[in-house]
Amino acid sequence: MAVSSAKPGWPGGDDDASVASPVAHPTYYQDVEPILLAHCVECHRKDGAGPFELTTYAQARALATSIASVTHEHRMPPWPAASGGDCPPQVGARRLDAQDIALIGAWQRDGAPAGTATASVPLLPPAWGTLTHVDAVLRSDAPYQPKANTDDHRCFIVHPSNAQDRYLTAYAVRQDAPGIIHHIQMWAIDSAAAEAQLDQLDAADSGPGYYCPENIGVDGRYVSVWAPSDPIRRHPPDTGMLLTGGHRMVIQIHYHDHGQGRADQTAIELELAAHVKYPASMWAISPPDLNLPPGMPNVQAKTSTTVSGTRPYQLWGVRAHMHTLGSSEQVSMRTGSGAHCLLSIPRWDSNWQLMYFYEKPVPLPIGTELDITCNYDTTSQTNPVHYGIRSTDEMCFAFFYVTQP
Ligand code: HEC
Repeated sequence: MAVSSAKPGWPGGDDDASVASPVAHPTYYQDVEPILLAHCVECHRKDGAGPFELTTYAQARALATSIASVTHEHRMPPWPAASGGDCPPQVGARRLDAQDIALIGAWQRDGAPAGTATASVPLLPPAWGTLTHVDAVLRSDAPYQPKANTDDHRCFIVHPSNAQDRYLTAYAVRQDAPGIIHHIQMWAIDSAAAEAQLDQLDAADSGPGYYCPENIGVDGRYVSVWAPSDPIRRHPPDTGMLLTGGHRMVIQIHYHDHGQGRADQTAIELELAAHVKYPASMWAISPPDLNLPPGMPNVQAKTSTTVSGTRPYQLWGVRAHMHTLGSSEQVSMRTGSGAHCLLSIPRWDSNWQLMYFYEKPVPLPIGTELDITCNYDTTSQTNPVHYGIRSTDEMCFAFFYVTQP
């Protein structure tokens, strides 16, 4: 029997007890290593996003039981979005098929044998690729010491150093103090007036950057949001976010220190292009307020918005966002010809807030309704929970990466 647990898994890995391992007695070198290389070492490698390496037989053998259980439960590789149905296919979807899961289970039950060592296999490049060039690095001027054991939202004024307009095609976050960053948001600043206001905010607050709990405090254009789960954020081909020449940017880092007490100077490496075919924008949509009664296993919040303007849009990807009480989120669209899924997260896990890009963009005609439904479990709460920025408050957001053809 494979190791089982009550914890439900994510969808998609079509684990199926009736599927047998394609190999009766699998070994590490012949059968398991290729699966780990293809699906796991993107993160479980030196300096990867995972907490340990899975690149040698000794490491895999020591963790064989956990590997069998997290794959059986579809908790690894992490990919909380549902696929199939009428949801658009997602780029780089990380999933194991039922045969791979059965094979890993059979290997673990057999005592995780090594087999015959083969010539070492080169690591595959991560699904999202790597940055092809680093054109700018965003980081605060000095390390910042987040407030201990609380939510601390800090804005840093940073320099992409592009004299001319450039487009952000990909970025990589190099966390300086892993484990204390909840998420990072980025804004481009397009005017000298807004920059002057920024300098005032910075000067008024001692230490690097300034405290910015709700918003960045000046006019800015929303560029991106990242949480520690994407090794590389790569925008779809031919698209990018404009970074106006000669202007600075603001990065907001939401720290949640759990007593680590570490200072942080995280760096964001940018890959820029002089031109892209489709400059992109990011829409952030949420209900105007949330008021979630306590003690209920299923509380729902909904909002809808209409795509307006004169030229239609194309949607390239969606990201869902709730805090820790969230249990599932659905994003869909309605047009005259019916309703379609855009993103469905059937089991929400606030640790895995990925941006899901589509293999092909979805047309959004003017007048399309975008619907967001968030479900929460408030049985752990004794007081109503409202919209707010602290980890103990809640949110219900969807972010839409759009262009105009
Ligand atoms: C996108 C990055 C990523 C990929 C791909 C990935 N992991 Fe992980 N893995 C993580 C992170 C981060 C954690 C720690 C946080 C967590 O447990 O969710 C983790 C945790 C684990 C754990 C410990 C879980 C526990 O509950 O103790 C195991 C075992 C594991 N991964 C195995 C695998 C295997 C096997 C694969 C491939 C089939 C894989 N991972 C693919 C990032 C990744």
